[in-house]
Amino acid sequence: MVNDRFFGTESQQSLLRRGRSIYDLFAGDVRVSYHGRTVGLLRPSAESGPLLDRLFALQGASTYADVPAEDADIVQSELEARGYSITRYQCWSGGDTVIKAARNIVATYALPKGITAHWIDADAPDLHLERLADVALCCGVLPLAGSVLRGQLKPGLGIVALDEHGQAASCAAASSFAHPDDTIRGSEAWWGMLATHKQHRGKKLALILGAMALLKMHERFGFQQFMTGVQPGNTASEAVCAKTGLSPQPRIILTAVDAEALPGGKLTS
Ligand SMILES: CC(C)(COP(=O)(O)OP(=O)(O)OC[C@H]1O[C@@H](n2cnc3c(N)ncnc32)[C@H](O)[C@@H]1OP(=O)(O)O)[C@@H](O)C(=O)NCCC(=O)NCCS
Repeated sequence: MVNDRFFGTESQQSLLRRGRSIYDLFAGDVRVSYHGRTVGLLRPSAESGPLLDRLFALQGASTYADVPAEDADIVQSELEARGYSITRYQCWSGGDTVIKAARNIVATYALPKGITAHWIDADAPDLHLERLADVALCCGVLPLAGSVLRGQLKPGLGIVALDEHGQAASCAAASSFAHPDDTIRGSEAWWGMLATHKQHRGKKLALILGAMALLKMHERFGFQQFMTGVQPGNTASEAVCAKTGLSPQPRIILTAVDAEALPGGKLTS
């Protein structure tokens, strides 16, 4: 049994557990991506179909994470014709502009009175990890595997903001994504898992925590390029991404989830 922490419903935890085990088998494979949920393939190729089928069958979900926008419709139609139900995410990313924007955010805004920020790393108390999971889940965001949030499996980190009663107000996270030898995406980090409890929204918590997570990922692990996937229409997420210096790219993330393995059929918002 893999020794890790997974959060969410039984089906969510079991999906994350399968994803973690598959990653343990595929960690050295330059074709795959993983940031603590399920193992995906970076891009479709002549040979990728059978591998995607197996990743999907074993995990109950998988992804093509780096599909050029001009190919996305056709790749999606082919997947749908093969029976997959696809969620489409717009890729937002950026480099220097993002680091500059994040520095500007932490220099400009302070956390509201009574709110404290706590890093999730190898030494963080379990309680903080659990609080981070609480706020993510109550906002419809699936927490990454604990070992990724703690940076124990691969470069990664989380951050949680607690209120004066010790309840979670907001969270953010970042992780390495592609295999470092992938010539296109190997030096890019995934960033996101932004979630703010309804009663704390509009206080710039996502903006501040997101910027802190991004800068720490840059300083601790040297990442200069950051990406995330946003479902078109998630205006709050788009607003936070834009203010953090990310911009929409001609790149689409196509995710297939088995509704039987994960009721609701969606990994995250
Ligand atoms: C997205 C989310 C994390 C934003 O949290 P938040 O702490 O309220 O955001 P902030 O207060 O830091 O807002 C940052 C900026 O985004 C803007 N913004 C926030 N919510 C917005 C909305 N619904 N519509 C438009 N703009 C919005 C804010 O106005 C602010 O811009 P400003 O500096 O010009 O005022 C929160 O709405 C949430 O938890 N949503 C559900 C989960 C989700 O979708 N997460 C993203 C998954 S990738």
